[in-house]
Amino acid sequence: MQKRLGWLDQRTHTTRNALQAKEGEQVRLLGWVHVKNQVGGIIFLTVRDGEGFIQAAGKKGVVSEQVFEDLKKVTRESAVMVGGTVRGDKRAPGGKEVSVKEFEIVALSDDWPITKSAVKSASYLYDMRHLSIRGRKASAVMKVRAEVISGAFEHFVDNGFILISAPTIVQNAVEGGSTLFELNYFGSKAYLSQSAQLYEEAAINALEKVFIFQPAFRAEKSKTSKHLTEFWMIEAEQAFASQEDNMKLQENLLCHICRRVAEKRSAELSILGRRFNPPEPPLPRISYDEAIHFASSKGIPIKWGEDITTEAERLLSESQDKPFFITGYPLSTRSFYHMTNPDDPRQVTMSADLIAPEGHGELATGGQRIHDYKLLEDRIKGQELPPEAFGWYLGLRKYGLPPHAGFGMGAERATKWICGLKHIRATSLFPRTITRVTP
Ligand code: 4AD
Ligand code: MG
Repeated sequence: MQKRLGWLDQRTHTTRNALQAKEGEQVRLLGWVHVKNQVGGIIFLTVRDGEGFIQAAGKKGVVSEQVFEDLKKVTRESAVMVGGTVRGDKRAPGGKEVSVKEFEIVALSDDWPITKSAVKSASYLYDMRHLSIRGRKASAVMKVRAEVISGAFEHFVDNGFILISAPTIVQNAVEGGSTLFELNYFGSKAYLSQSAQLYEEAAINALEKVFIFQPAFRAEKSKTSKHLTEFWMIEAEQAFASQEDNMKLQENLLCHICRRVAEKRSAELSILGRRFNPPEPPLPRISYDEAIHFASSKGIPIKWGEDITTEAERLLSESQDKPFFITGYPLSTRSFYHMTNPDDPRQVTMSADLIAPEGHGELATGGQRIHDYKLLEDRIKGQELPPEAFGWYLGLRKYGLPPHAGFGMGAERATKWICGLKHIRATSLFPRTITRVTP
């Protein structure tokens, strides 16, 4: 323990600032051996830390015998201390290399189990996720995800939204009963929360504009490339707001996040082979009616009032190169709390989905909520929802609840699109899906 603290005290550089160091500058880094190669009497290491990678080279006869022995002994993924001189080398990634003088093995790794021959399927990589997250791509995705979340916080705070928390053990279904995880709560039934929306609707009466970032749970019964059973949702709710205000907030938020990722994480995007052009507001809007017309032109008939199928959404998403809204879904496709347009007898909700382009599909769902007591009471009765579970929520309408609107965006969905990933599980450090609860 004493020794480890000693190393931390002696660290002078991280990989990122070592790459920016002047020719001849002395550096001492702490990190992991990402790659090791020996070419004649030179041992090359790619050393990784939390910020990135740098090449280090130790030459026999130049380094001490002990250092060369340790360089020979060190294995991939061992934790190490490397010290030496920075010099320019065109062949090295980043154009710089550390000429090793000092080297110590802090923690020697056993044979690394994630090799080309061991990896026979993607599921092996996820069985070994506690180790495979060290990969260059996996950590690039996590850094983009962190930027997505920080960007969201920044946008909300800059626009006067207050961060709140809400329980994740609840007694009501926000988004329908079919994806609820049930649990035994000291002998009575409770569920894992699908969305914090109902609590946000209470909180706006105290704070006016709120946002929240917390896990949401869905017992998704099907195996798809965009569903996790546990994911993190970015949600916001505003008092005295219409669906128009809500869509403006979403497009400004998403474009802010995209700009920030493009600015701060271009290295990670290029590790992922992703060319990403951040969109600028306003984002295009198409109506539900136009969307189902498009679907039928592609051979997917959708009757008015039916939900847009996953396949139709994918084709529509593929036809666009910028995120876009689908507006005005029929009430039959939406949850009970949605306000309908009073000027349209077909029961069209004042709601929209925000859809990512390039086939990625839904990023967010939002809408204006019913703020009238009687209207919501009738809706709850009409949809045969358990009135006791929604008692307090309905009751809010008796105590000065103004018109309001909000939305929820999945952090992993946004990351999947921005990184251009095929499967959502790659956006989660330890993904939970229908077939996976470990590691
Ligand atoms: O569309 P959803 O179900 O909407 C709501 O939960 C609203 N109550 C939110 C609100 O208005 N405050 O979920 C919102 C978003 C989706 O658009 C999607 O991005 C993400 O959450 N999401 C999922 N992400 C990963 N895996 C799943 N199983 C997801 N289900 C929803
Ligand atoms: Mg939705």
